[in-house]
Amino acid sequence: MNKGTFYISTPIYYPSDKLHIGHTYCTVAADVIARYKRMRGYDVMFLTGTDEHGMKIEERAKASGVTPKQFVDEIICGEGGILDLWKLMNISYDRFIRTTDDYHEESIQKIFRALYDKGDIYKGVYKGLYCTPCESFWTESQLVDGKCPDCGRDVKYAEEEAYFFRQSKYAQRIIESISSYLEPQSRVNEMMNNFLKPGLEDICVSRTTFKWGVPVDFDPGHVVYVWVDALSNYITALGYMNSKYDDFDKYWPCDIHLVGKEIVRLHSILWPAMLMALDVPLPKKVYGHGWLLFGGDKMSKSKGNVKDPGILAKRYGVDALRFFLLREYTFGADGNFTNELLISRINSDLANDLGNLVSRTVAMAEKYFGGKLPQEREGSLEDSEITAMAGDLSKAYETCMEKLAFQDALEAVFKVTSRANKYIDETTPWILAKETGKQPRLASVLYNLLEMIRICAIMLQPFMPDSCHRIFKQIGASGELTEFDSAASFGGLPETVTVEKGEIIFPRLDMAKELEELAGE
Ligand code: MSP
Repeated sequence: MNKGTFYISTPIYYPSDKLHIGHTYCTVAADVIARYKRMRGYDVMFLTGTDEHGMKIEERAKASGVTPKQFVDEIICGEGGILDLWKLMNISYDRFIRTTDDYHEESIQKIFRALYDKGDIYKGVYKGLYCTPCESFWTESQLVDGKCPDCGRDVKYAEEEAYFFRQSKYAQRIIESISSYLEPQSRVNEMMNNFLKPGLEDICVSRTTFKWGVPVDFDPGHVVYVWVDALSNYITALGYMNSKYDDFDKYWPCDIHLVGKEIVRLHSILWPAMLMALDVPLPKKVYGHGWLLFGGDKMSKSKGNVKDPGILAKRYGVDALRFFLLREYTFGADGNFTNELLISRINSDLANDLGNLVSRTVAMAEKYFGGKLPQEREGSLEDSEITAMAGDLSKAYETCMEKLAFQDALEAVFKVTSRANKYIDETTPWILAKETGKQPRLASVLYNLLEMIRICAIMLQPFMPDSCHRIFKQIGASGELTEFDSAASFGGLPETVTVEKGEIIFPRLDMAKELEELAGE
């Protein structure tokens, strides 16, 4: 059943502050893809990590009176830190890379030197407007009212020796190939119009204004530009130019680099140019997803909306939060996050629709048959529509998942759960239970419902792994009957299936009360 390898990465996050729900969105999406691909029989490598160098981190550490390494260690490994967050969110990564890991730093030095030896990195002079207190170069267009955009003070023209990467050399090849790896298409147009058509310049890839980075080994005093350091993680984590790992040949080229839209440029232009220079094949796909906005922008301290994924996951359940993020928003586009949307989605889809379907069906099987369906059956014409609908679900779902259209995939699943709830109303099992001779019909109805639930739960597993496990337990499905291939045909459960009532999986929430309590968080 092994279908080959599948390599997916998230961006590596800056450990400069606590991560919020926007970061969680990207990692959950990657986790859903990884779980989906594993379910389909792929040998998956799911990589995430942290991007730890750079002036910002150096400054924040200084302000906190600790070393940069102590500072990032706390944010990553401390209580409630990044590792704890991914554990809480049930993120099934296979490897976690830190750019401060020795093996990565060693690879970066080798990569930098290889590009230098090849002539694709050369020493030049960086010219620009310099803010002395901030130790930063700015371009004319970055200035605010002619002053430093960070501190508002005067800037002056300055020159500094620096290393440059010959990005311009690869411009034509990138123009020719970008549409083969960048998605969605709207991002290709953006890159072509804003960066590629106006012309690519060489890019400064070393800094001397701060120390917290990977030193250029043949020219100490210079540290490697943080994006060259960070982007390379996708190959160093597989053992490229280091001996820590040895699965570069196995997993590269990457199947999907999942990235937020503001870092598409670096992933679809600089990164491919670096790979071309290194003679390494390009990733198969770079997917630029949209942002979760908080009152209209990406970062704002939103009024009353909780951005801390830990608080929301502990309150509503990890699965409900995971589900919400991918059900509510179109993946490629921006969407506004509010507490109200979260609660309303949990109530409509999870409590009223799916949860209700499971608890009603299991309760009826217990009440009317003591939990075990009898063998005698009586089918009816009205069954054919719903059995066909559930039997066809996995195909439609697969098409959406392959396009990363999570919202559509989930919509297809919830069409079936809604239809199943309607089927209960149409077949009125409580009336069948009272009529003599209708036991076989009642058994057929309940069996059909259990099968619909089983098929939907299989599709929902990548999104809500724990909840689906609990659903399977309640409806008496295990082993092969929880696997993707078994969803293609209706009728997998044994005729005399035994159900087991459990706790309510998705309790209904009181909107007004929740909003009030969240406002106090
Ligand atoms: N360190 C770089 C990435 C280097 S990858 C070689 C970085 N880090 S970040 O922590 O600032 O952002 C990481 C990812 O989180 C980005 O893809 C970014 O788009 C995503 N998000 C941050 N805030 C977000 C939202 N509000 N909504 C959706 N994604 C968001 O960039």
